[in-house]
Amino acid sequence: MNNVGPAAETRSRPPFYRPTGDEVKVFHAAARRGLPVLIKGPTGCGKTRFVEAMAHELGRELITVAGHEDMTSADLVGRFLLKGAETVWVDGPLTRAVRQGAIFYLDEVVEARQDTTVVIHPIADHRRELPVDRLGTTLSAAPGFQLVISYNPGYQSVLKNLKESTRQRFVAITLDFPPAVTETEVVAREADVDIEIADALVTLGNAIRHLDASPLREVSSTRMLILAGGLVAGGLSLRSAVQSAVVEVLSDDPDVIRALGELVDAVLPTR
Ligand SMILES: Nc1ncnc2c1ncn2[C@@H]1O[C@H](COP(=O)(O)OP(=O)(O)OP(=O)(O)O)[C@@H](O)[C@H]1O
Ligand SMILES: [Mg+2]
Repeated sequence: MNNVGPAAETRSRPPFYRPTGDEVKVFHAAARRGLPVLIKGPTGCGKTRFVEAMAHELGRELITVAGHEDMTSADLVGRFLLKGAETVWVDGPLTRAVRQGAIFYLDEVVEARQDTTVVIHPIADHRRELPVDRLGTTLSAAPGFQLVISYNPGYQSVLKNLKESTRQRFVAITLDFPPAVTETEVVAREADVDIEIADALVTLGNAIRHLDASPLREVSSTRMLILAGGLVAGGLSLRSAVQSAVVEVLSDDPDVIRALGELVDAVLPTR
């Protein structure tokens, strides 16, 4: 199978994740009991990386699906497809994970319609069963199967709220941007820049995060600071890197961009 390569590579090189609280302990305890986990946190704070690291530590396959408005339960469970003259059943990613005992990670779960997310109910509670109506069968989850969902509460609209009966089946883990010392290490390592550059980026990131009456919809994420660091590693000056990876990305409004630029000039070391 052609996924042997990447899987083997994942096994040999663990995804780099620095814990920021007791999230690893909570995840391990949940995994031991097969309990489903809900991870919430702002964009670019490390949710996906955390799940990748946990899957690796537990030695489980990770099957990831991004939720979207048009997603149907068949996209998760499977469907009959025409192959030549024959109709063949093709397992969806959730069914594969249930059969294989993999971790099934449904990212951006609030984007999916509620009538789609209810398919995870019987697999998310003590039943650990997946009814596959079209096959007229119900599958029991193989040992190791675990359901993980995540979302960004900042994007949540009333309409797209997660159904209470869905939420209450999960153990919640809240992630946020790492504390400065940890984030500096993460930025230095991921962007391949020295600690001084990473420290300047993290200081700036925190200044933006703590702006009073901020006009920004989203603040500077760890991902964004890593991107800025990547530009520095690629040869750009720190100031230009921040302009391209942070300032211009955070806003389209010329006044806000100007104000952010002034903040950057005040915070970044001049050299
Ligand atoms: N605690 C951490 N340890 C290691 N890397 C981290 C940590 N927190 C954030 N990162 C880094 O931040 C970057 C973004 O993380 P990730 O893609 O996991 O964010 P996310 O929360 O899944 O975002 P989104 O909601 O947009 O999907 C990754 O490159 C990752 O290396
Ligand atoms: Mg993610």
